[in-house]
Amino acid sequence: MKYLKVSGVVERKFRIMSSIHTKLSEMSATHGKSINALLNELLAEQLLKLKEEHPCPKQQKNVYFNDGSVQLLLNDFLQVDLSDLEGKVNLIVTSPPYNVGVEYGSMDDAMSYSEYLRFTENYLRRFYELLAPDGRVCLNVPLDKNRGGLQSVYVDIVQIAKSVGLKYQSTIVWNEQNISRRTAWGSWVSASAPYVIAPVEVIVLLYKHTWKRTDKGKTTITKEEFIEWTNGVWTFPGESKKRVGHPAPFPLELPLRCIKLFSFEGDLVLDPFVGSGTTAVACKLTRRKCIGIDIEEAYLKIAKERMAKATGLFS
Ligand SMILES: C[S@@+](CC[C@H](N)C(=O)[O-])C[C@H]1O[C@@H](n2cnc3c(N)ncnc32)[C@H](O)[C@@H]1O
Repeated sequence: MKYLKVSGVVERKFRIMSSIHTKLSEMSATHGKSINALLNELLAEQLLKLKEEHPCPKQQKNVYFNDGSVQLLLNDFLQVDLSDLEGKVNLIVTSPPYNVGVEYGSMDDAMSYSEYLRFTENYLRRFYELLAPDGRVCLNVPLDKNRGGLQSVYVDIVQIAKSVGLKYQSTIVWNEQNISRRTAWGSWVSASAPYVIAPVEVIVLLYKHTWKRTDKGKTTITKEEFIEWTNGVWTFPGESKKRVGHPAPFPLELPLRCIKLFSFEGDLVLDPFVGSGTTAVACKLTRRKCIGIDIEEAYLKIAKERMAKATGLFS
């Protein structure tokens, strides 16, 4: 037997078998990670697996706001009972947590990459269940991740989406004109190890069974908007975190374009990670029904205030 000192909030000593200690030491040397970090990753993965194998009973919906056309739920999207919505959602417009260490209150936005991909698989499975047969998804995600190890986030997410049964339509590149000053060049004016960073995000377009809508509805897009927005490079600035009071809001223009281009008036739009409620505001302005979910009450409070302003302005 060996003792392992594990430091977290409290430092503890655990008795572990010598053979496990030897294996951990070998893994630690191979992966260049501390035993503590390795153990945390392994345990987190096992816990997620256990949660999947023995799911808790689904949470009841906790309605935070409801004005008849927009409903905001204070719930964990992966836990809440949405069985009444299965097969009914026309469009999902959302930007999930990016896993780049953003402080979202209680939510851990710095999981290991494999945990993040498992989380991604779980929410994409739920998307599949909730979508109508001709339902669509506009998923705003980063192209790459370059903090804490380079990862092809977009490529990996598309692969997972396909593996859970969603179909790939195309991708919009959002050029958010992020001209923040670069500091990480890799190797400055040298071919030694330069870094290439694309200051863009993407909006992946997915669907359940058929891309063509099976019903006829009222389109609300103008000819000019249609011509401009069907060009898959969208250029408009990001939203100020300070102005909105959320660490990662998307600009209203993003859900507004997605909703007008991909849904009919009166359709049901879902944003399972609604944050400050940008998608809900866009639905209000375009006369779509909306269900927005977030795990943080503070963000739903902002969403509610933004809804009130939008309805005040446009009713
Ligand atoms: C990138 S932000 C979305 C921002 C939003 N598009 C806006 O304009 O404000 C992701 C949001 O997901 C929420 N979140 C994280 N995990 C969640 C979960 N399991 N269920 C519901 N919401 C979650 C976070 O609180 C955060 O507000």
